[in-house]
Amino acid sequence: MNITREQVFVWSRKIRLFHWINVIAILLLIAIGTIILNGKMFGVSTDGKILLKTIHVIVGYVFASNLIFRLIIGFVGKSNERWHKILPFNKGFKAELIEFKQGKKLAYKGHNPAGKLMILALLSLMTVQMISGLVIAGTDIYYPPFGHYFVESIAIDKDNIAAIKPYSKVNVDEASYQAMREVRKPFITAHVYVFYCLLLLIPLHIIGVIIAERREKTAIVSAMFNGYKYLPKETTNDKTKDS
Ligand code: HEM
Repeated sequence: MNITREQVFVWSRKIRLFHWINVIAILLLIAIGTIILNGKMFGVSTDGKILLKTIHVIVGYVFASNLIFRLIIGFVGKSNERWHKILPFNKGFKAELIEFKQGKKLAYKGHNPAGKLMILALLSLMTVQMISGLVIAGTDIYYPPFGHYFVESIAIDKDNIAAIKPYSKVNVDEASYQAMREVRKPFITAHVYVFYCLLLLIPLHIIGVIIAERREKTAIVSAMFNGYKYLPKETTNDKTKDS
């Protein structure tokens, strides 16, 4: 059957920029994180480890700023930037999911129901990764936003906190240092486990995108570059299907 399609603007410049900055930042963070996690195997020295952690944290700031920007536009943005359009919490989501599973609807203006679940999982995990990463950066190499607080908490001479350097015990109170490491523990555990979850979910997201493209044929990948999908005419005219 020949389906008439029309070009429909779906993803704003903000969403597309967020997506591709996020992809680049996450890939860099995964690559550097893998070397840090397997430092011994790669023969990384202490100085090398500090350098890698510093680069990891700087890329982490780009990732965090980009993610915070996305989280904010979920509340204040337009159309498909907003949470009720992209997350699986809208009224009637269950029915949408059943319809999707039965293959009754073949094109979606925003994410399909499976896409909504995946986006919720990715954004939630990335948020946990951002928060745990910022805490670890403070306890490890004493970087902002929490570094100053942790350095003060472990300093013997509070007037000479500049003497405290990563992996050095100069001016460090051992008991306070151990207390700081205890605070750090749950954050590092979360950071490592979420890292593994993302390693699993990212390929699943890409496989999902490929399956959706083969099934829906609306050019969803190029839509993440130019903003436009090619939707069957009925889909765009029917308001109940504007999801
Ligand atoms: C590090 C890897 C990736 C991560 C973490 C990621 C994450 C995300 C997130 C969070 C969204 C939701 C965008 C929003 O509403 O703000 C999204 C959507 C999307 N991503 Fe990715 N992405 C990754 C890689 C890719 C790649 C390589 C492709 C291309 C093959 C891709 C294609 C898409 C598409 C087409 C959508 C929209 C899906 C739809 O129309 O329902 N992503 N991605």
